[in-house]
Amino acid sequence: MEFLTAHEKKNTQKISLDDALQLAVSVHRQGKPRLAAQHYEAILQVAPSHPDALHYMGVAQHHLGNHEGAVNLIQRALAVAPDYVDARNNLGNVQKEMGRHADAEQSYRAVLEARPDFALAHNNLGVVLRAQERLDEAAAAYRRAIVLSPKFAQGWVNLGNVLKKTGDFNEALSAYRNAVLLSPDNPEVYRSLARALVSQQRHEEALEVYREWEKIEPDNPVVQHHIAACQGAAAPERASDSYVQTVFDRFADSFDDVLTRLGYCAPAMCGEMVATLLGAGGDAKPALDVLDAGCGTGLCGPLLKPYARKLEGVDLSAGMLAKAAKRGGYDKLHEAELTAWLSGHPAAYDLVVSADTLCYFGALDAVIKAAGDSLRAGGTLVFTVEETVDAAAAPQFLLHPHGRYSHAEAYVRAMLVEAGLEVRELRRVTLRQEASKPVAGLLVGARKAG
Ligand SMILES: C[S@@+](CC[C@H](N)C(=O)[O-])C[C@H]1O[C@@H](n2cnc3c(N)ncnc32)[C@H](O)[C@@H]1O
Repeated sequence: MEFLTAHEKKNTQKISLDDALQLAVSVHRQGKPRLAAQHYEAILQVAPSHPDALHYMGVAQHHLGNHEGAVNLIQRALAVAPDYVDARNNLGNVQKEMGRHADAEQSYRAVLEARPDFALAHNNLGVVLRAQERLDEAAAAYRRAIVLSPKFAQGWVNLGNVLKKTGDFNEALSAYRNAVLLSPDNPEVYRSLARALVSQQRHEEALEVYREWEKIEPDNPVVQHHIAACQGAAAPERASDSYVQTVFDRFADSFDDVLTRLGYCAPAMCGEMVATLLGAGGDAKPALDVLDAGCGTGLCGPLLKPYARKLEGVDLSAGMLAKAAKRGGYDKLHEAELTAWLSGHPAAYDLVVSADTLCYFGALDAVIKAAGDSLRAGGTLVFTVEETVDAAAAPQFLLHPHGRYSHAEAYVRAMLVEAGLEVRELRRVTLRQEASKPVAGLLVGARKAG
């Protein structure tokens, strides 16, 4: 005869599938997808075709990073229950996040056929249409979402973004303003409106928006930086560490894609300058100790690797560094402020390269001096800055309302001389496009006396 303790009896009590599912969903909602997946798995052992369990297991797998598995599971749920609209919408969401925009579009369209008044699905459809550069169709989808759900602030922001892209600025601005009215506690809406105003050189109005944003987030370093930038006066000597970290941690995931679309070529230009000064990479044995200064997601890494006995990267943003680590190629990555890092490593490098990073510095004296000191005799410094167009008005540097600094050529040259570096090459270049206009830059190669 078998005797069960009270505890064992409790654990062998059967619960219904519905209760088990409810329990799994509540665990999932608490942000524990791994544990939830174990619960869903147990349910699927008993009921392998349970559409909810398949669907939610798919969502859990998506949250765990297994996107292919997620698609497969949700499709199995839909094979059992083809009219399961929420599952189909989530299938679209997973496909959207995987970048399978055409598949996601199909999923959302099927959802909307079944439920034409599903505002969120119209919005999601807009997102994948925009990703496919079908801007007018995207705008129509967002408008539909807003008609169905007029208080949906994100829909207004999305509509504003697409109208800005099509050049309908006034309409874009009024869409953003609606978003601000509907969601005054949401920093995102201020960010979108202010950026649109800045892109139109409407700096006074942008300043007002930043001031409104400041009321809800007085300590946000992004707001403080842009208020200083819009005011023009009393610009800080460089962007604060917290500004750089906040902006680039947020930007890390989309940085490479966004900058490719903007024709970003600072890394390639720095690579060319290195080749001009040191000979094409691969000609000789990689013999140099190299620092990628402000390495970001590591776009310069592959261009510097052929020269490097040791390749290090330094950056303030943990998010950007994580991307660089994923790309690979660096021997070491350091989370640190650039001037501090360089100052702490005298005569440590043969080559220091800084692509599109000194535009977050106004005063260049300390950072260029530290870069010079970090080089060994005969070492090379390559970098880009944005160039001040009207250098007579701003002979050293200027902080612009978009938040970056530009520098006058004469100032850059003077800082190099002061740091004991000889200018070997200085080229006028276009770094990328912004609001469909070229961003003028200086590409500089300098050498420390041997
Ligand atoms: C526009 S990204 C350029 C990244 C990379 N060099 C490239 O060309 O793709 C600028 C990078 O500089 C970093 N940065 C800006 N100011 C910095 C500072 N004071 N110290 C360290 N990193 C800084 C940012 O975190 C960001 O990753």
